[in-house]
Amino acid sequence: MLIKVTNEISLTPYLKKDKSDLVKHINHSDISNNTLTIPYPYKKEDADIFFNLIQEKEKKTGKVWNWVIRNKENHLIGSIGLLGGNFFGNPHRDVFGYWIGEEFRGKGLMTKVVETFADYCLNERGLVRLEASVFPHNQASMRVLEKAGFEREGYLRKMFLKKGEYLDSVLFAKIKE
Ligand SMILES: CC(C)(COP(=O)(O)OP(=O)(O)OC[C@H]1O[C@@H](n2cnc3c(N)ncnc32)[C@H](O)[C@@H]1OP(=O)(O)O)[C@@H](O)C(=O)NCCC(=O)NCCS
Repeated sequence: MLIKVTNEISLTPYLKKDKSDLVKHINHSDISNNTLTIPYPYKKEDADIFFNLIQEKEKKTGKVWNWVIRNKENHLIGSIGLLGGNFFGNPHRDVFGYWIGEEFRGKGLMTKVVETFADYCLNERGLVRLEASVFPHNQASMRVLEKAGFEREGYLRKMFLKKGEYLDSVLFAKIKE
């Protein structure tokens, strides 16, 4: 299942061959600092665990939850994915997260990816509410969400517990009216 973003960028399910590009691009302290569970340093064993998790989830549900952001050379340059929780019987909503390799940033790519991904989720995947939570220090990510048409809904204090520390979060959402 391929989601076209531009002539050069597409979103596809993970393939075995993506493992080395994944380790290469995700292994950055920025990515770990701005997300909840991605470790730094990121080792091949971390990629093995991630691949097993997504495979199991796809097998169990028959659906794709994690996509590779792929360039025209067919290489992984980043990733975007849905959490896929049922949220106490509320399947109309989901939470997503994303990252892109350092060398590909600042070119407007993630904004295009998030716009296209939100369209897919709200128009083809049956979601009515798509959410993203951003740490308050992550100005670039908040800008991406604003540019992609998400609304800032609130500031959530001590929303997450990460490495023993309570962290605030800014909640963004896009709604299918
Ligand atoms: C956040 C991230 C996805 C942005 O990707 P990107 O492809 O560079 O995003 P874009 O180029 O589409 O847009 C970035 C915007 O943020 C702005 N920006 C970048 N750094 C900024 C900063 N420190 N302060 C304010 N704005 C900033 C850019 O100027 C641009 O806005 P503009 O078009 O109005 O000039 C990327 O930096 C990343 O992967 N970071 C690490 C992981 C992460 O933070 N994931 C999101 C978790 S919520």
